[in-house]
Amino acid sequence: MPLSFSKIFIGFSVFSVILVSNVANDVPKKPYELVNDVCRKQWNKQFCLEVLKFDTRSEFAEDIRTLTTISLDVATKRLTATRDCFLGVKTGPPAILKSLKDCIDPYNFVIQSLQNCLIEDDCLLTGYDIHIAGDEVTRCQKFVDSNGAHDSFITTSNNVTLEYCWLSESLANLMCDETRG
Ligand SMILES: *[C@@H]1O[C@H](CO)[C@@H](O)[C@H](O)[C@H]1NC(C)=O
Repeated sequence: MPLSFSKIFIGFSVFSVILVSNVANDVPKKPYELVNDVCRKQWNKQFCLEVLKFDTRSEFAEDIRTLTTISLDVATKRLTATRDCFLGVKTGPPAILKSLKDCIDPYNFVIQSLQNCLIEDDCLLTGYDIHIAGDEVTRCQKFVDSNGAHDSFITTSNNVTLEYCWLSESLANLMCDETRG
């Protein structure tokens, strides 16, 4: 009995050492190494850092797919909150109320696209889906402009939404480069 216990113990110790040294080799040395690397290449570096650091999975992320997933998750949550805020406005100037109504469908489309784009078989279709989603935000803004609600809080929201789309699209395309290269 004591013999088999010590065998197990030694076996376990050796196993642990192998496990620890493997992990030590795989993990990037500094926190946020990949995040900083990737965000440096974005046109809005600050926005990129804020979005990705919002989720703790980014700290020791080893691939761009993880960062793309985070960006899409954060964007989906944020845009769902924006859409719900649009739905919640019941009183205000007619131009605003009409614009909010016009923008619900585009926003539903954007949210759904961002939620589903990662399951595309062809990696390049992920970036394409996000690009099309961004066009829907522009469509919403066109409604807003033609209704005379330019410079309202809807425009501010659309500008932020576009930032999420551009960041996610850019990360998705980097992700494909990573997979192929
Ligand atoms: C939204 O973005 C457009 C284009 O970049 C800019 O001209 C406009 O001032 C922004 N509006 C608001 C309210 O943020």
